[in-house]
Amino acid sequence: MKKIIIPTVLQASATELPYPDNYFDAVFTDPPYYDNINYAELSDFFYVWLKRSIGDLYPELFSTPLVPKSKEIVANPVRHGGEAKAKEFFETMLKRAFQEIYRVLKPNGIAVIVYTHKSTSGWETMINSLLDSGLVPTASWPIDTEMKTRLLAKDSAALASSIYIVCRKMEREDIGWFSDVKKEIRERIFNNLLWEEGIAGPDFFIACIGSAIEVFGRYKKVMDYEGNVIRADKLLEFVREVVTEYAIKQILHNGIAGELSALTKFYILWRWSFREAKVEFDEARKLAQSIGVHLERVWNRSFIKRDRNYIKVLGPQDRRLEDIENMREKDLIDVLHQVLLHWSKGRRDEMKRVLKETGYGENDAFYRVAQAVSETLPNDSKEKKLLDGFLSGKDRLILEIKDIKDKQGRLL
Ligand SMILES: C[S@@+](CC[C@H](N)C(=O)[O-])C[C@H]1O[C@@H](n2cnc3c(N)ncnc32)[C@H](O)[C@@H]1O
Repeated sequence: MKKIIIPTVLQASATELPYPDNYFDAVFTDPPYYDNINYAELSDFFYVWLKRSIGDLYPELFSTPLVPKSKEIVANPVRHGGEAKAKEFFETMLKRAFQEIYRVLKPNGIAVIVYTHKSTSGWETMINSLLDSGLVPTASWPIDTEMKTRLLAKDSAALASSIYIVCRKMEREDIGWFSDVKKEIRERIFNNLLWEEGIAGPDFFIACIGSAIEVFGRYKKVMDYEGNVIRADKLLEFVREVVTEYAIKQILHNGIAGELSALTKFYILWRWSFREAKVEFDEARKLAQSIGVHLERVWNRSFIKRDRNYIKVLGPQDRRLEDIENMREKDLIDVLHQVLLHWSKGRRDEMKRVLKETGYGENDAFYRVAQAVSETLPNDSKEKKLLDGFLSGKDRLILEIKDIKDKQGRLL
């Protein structure tokens, strides 16, 4: 005879589960992420109608005039009395929820936590809370969960995937040495197959965070040789560095990364990570730092623009030719923009002059950077169209530049 299992649905806070210790074989959860969505306020819209129509069938669920909000795990500055308090409230509650999962899970049980957050600070809290709860991450899976057409995805660097973190309640080794942990994480990132799967930008970064916490979480404590305890902030800094190094190599199809300036690498990495979106200053700073660029020293002087708390990396179409021409020191990217602006106006001789004078006209790295940037951009991007148009005439252009040089050589 078939055994029928009737599910029980109940309403309770994840921070106070009404179940005894070691009760569940499995726990699945998709926790909220700071202030991403104010679920309770949104629910009020439906709640008032449901209360009227089916409230008498479920009186215990509809006992309050609006959705109960005090235990909601969210960072809401209005409700919690300012930004700092809201952040603290969210972090305390999330930690409590993870501790509850640990408590109710059977010793051989499995917990799956779905997480996605594009800011590194969101990850920092999650990793510290998760590891402090005693749960040990044993596997992680990036899964494409988000609709590309949703409102948030349009103008921002929205994520397409979530990471499913599989955790168990198991013994951990006492101490892991950061140098060993780093070595293993690096090997994992360099040998992963995610790149071939087409996972790019912030999604690639968070998938690598998943792999990193599998290694990091095996220890009760990770320390460096100076005796410092390593927490999620240092772990994430390291993951970013390795991802940066790996991504640059992959985007440029190996080889020329060593020849390029930090600023050029930053540009390529930015387009790969965020395409043309504006990004919060702190996230932008972390990306820049991972490649050795101090954002504060370069913004508003070149293609990096700061607008209040956001950073935008300008493409050729956002810049004025005169501004680039007047720059005292030009990076490869500035020259590329200058050339593309001439190209877009059909000024072929000007374009050749710039390429010849700067020496980039016969420089393979210059064209490979242009190609790499184009590959990171979507088909409808203006910048991509300019790059592809310019690159389609590359061979002829190189011959013409050589020809000019030869003629000038003969005249001398
Ligand atoms: C990221 S969403 C989950 C979305 C869900 N997986 C779906 O696809 O519809 C997080 C959910 O956690 C709920 N939540 C917030 N605080 C909670 C708490 N203290 N206890 C239980 N759930 C809570 C929110 O209301 C929201 O529905």
